[in-house]
Amino acid sequence: MSNRIAHAGLAAKGRSAQEAAALISDGMTVGMSGFTGSGYPKAVPLALAERITAAHAAGEHFQVRIWTGASTGPELDGALAQADGIEFRLPYNSDPIARERINSGHMQYFDMHLSQVAPMAWQGFLGDLDIAVIEVTGITAEGELIPSASVGNNKTWTDRAKSVILEVNRWQNPALEGMHDIYYGTALPPHRQPIPLLYADQRIGQSTFRCDPDKVIAVVETDAPDRNAPFTPPDNKARAIAGHLLDFLGHEVKAGRLPPSLLPLQSGVGNIANAVLTGLIDAPFENMVAFTEVIQDGMLDLLDAGKLRMASATAFSLSPEAAARMNADMWRYREKMILRPQEISNHPELVRRLGCIAMNGLIEADIYGNVNSTHLMGSRIQNGIGGSGDFARNAFLSVFMTPSTAREGKISAIVPHCSHVDHINQDVQVIVTEQGLADLRGLAPRQRAELIIGKCAHPDFRPALRDYFRRALAGSYGLQSPMLPGEALAWHQRYIDTGTMRG
Ligand code: COA
Repeated sequence: MSNRIAHAGLAAKGRSAQEAAALISDGMTVGMSGFTGSGYPKAVPLALAERITAAHAAGEHFQVRIWTGASTGPELDGALAQADGIEFRLPYNSDPIARERINSGHMQYFDMHLSQVAPMAWQGFLGDLDIAVIEVTGITAEGELIPSASVGNNKTWTDRAKSVILEVNRWQNPALEGMHDIYYGTALPPHRQPIPLLYADQRIGQSTFRCDPDKVIAVVETDAPDRNAPFTPPDNKARAIAGHLLDFLGHEVKAGRLPPSLLPLQSGVGNIANAVLTGLIDAPFENMVAFTEVIQDGMLDLLDAGKLRMASATAFSLSPEAAARMNADMWRYREKMILRPQEISNHPELVRRLGCIAMNGLIEADIYGNVNSTHLMGSRIQNGIGGSGDFARNAFLSVFMTPSTAREGKISAIVPHCSHVDHINQDVQVIVTEQGLADLRGLAPRQRAELIIGKCAHPDFRPALRDYFRRALAGSYGLQSPMLPGEALAWHQRYIDTGTMRG
């Protein structure tokens, strides 16, 4: 066993991934670490997938229930879904194989607000947690666990599980130690207390997870990289979206509604969010902070440029180049970053108190400002709501951004009515596309419709949207949010009929 495991009792529990996977049996609920492709276990899930495949070949039933922080990597969600080994999954998935299993009806998926996972696990209605499989950077002499590149729900899983399997990953930088802030003060009502965090850069907890060494049934050593997907450089649309949004933020500063250093930034995942962060490098805002869910490349660039003072999150979501850059200089970055449990990084109380500027992606928005972040055609899940609801509802300013069209311009992202709603119009204050920005604050639904069509919809789709709105004004049952129910769905149906909407 390596010097990453300083506790003698735990060092003695060294096992192979196969031996550890053999401790997991059919029907168990397994809480795994992992959040946006970082800090997930890499060896035990693969060995478990092999076991499950062998069991299925022998005609045996073998499926498990998987809880995580958020998305993981191909060695976990991909391998287990490929083996048809997941009966039930929560709280977020972006793995393409698992997505297919969900959408073909072979896997149950509870897509949920990420801040609520830990409290709901404690409420008990999700059932018992049999085993936690947690990647860590190391184990202290006292048996405390040094977290890895994501914190997610690991505190809750190690506390709640009957048994714990640890993966100690040598690939993770030992200098991660000290970056984390693990707060142990949460409780269920009626014992819940205020979270004592007043500033995004404040520490309120400890740097390690507590874990009773007696609960640990295996310690597996690994040396494997995180998923670390590359970002595509911002294209013209992403740059235009970023430009509109940055102009708007500048205008809000001039109007005295935002301070010159803005308010704590929350940035969703993906290329557009990253383009906005990149755009902030040349924007006139200084001394910014981030109170967000994931730290992606753009945040690292902002830190390097001296524009961002610090970033608080629950995980990294970096390209391989950015991960290498951070690993080479971890001692310096560690002073400017805090990773927290996701029940804290996404806590509605904190998002409201700090006054975050929430910036998230969407699949479609309707002319009244309702937003669909999760479902294609109302029925087919793409990823999940993730933290977007935690932030959007409670933010000081809630922004959603998207290209105005999808699928090579064949589908409008602005629709008469969303085929599925994740964020009601009351939680959506600004919508931005490459066409422009609609500031919806203080507007009634009919006013919003004019603005969203005029500012955000692609010119190719404006006539059809205006035509719908005009006819809805004439034929709707009520005129608060005019609607022609049959047509609202037919708008989406036409893309199925023309074969544009892939299965
Ligand atoms: N109609 C049909 N399909 C659409 C569509 C639309 N209006 N908009 C997007 N799509 C399709 C794309 O074509 C693409 O399909 P493909 O994978 O087959 O190519 C897929 O949906 C994803 O679209 P893309 O433009 O690549 O998405 P993105 O990377 O910009 O992410 C979301 C957009 C909404 C999927 C993403 O932001 C998300 O999952 N959000 C919810 C979670 C969240 O906000 N997390 C952050 C909170 S901290």
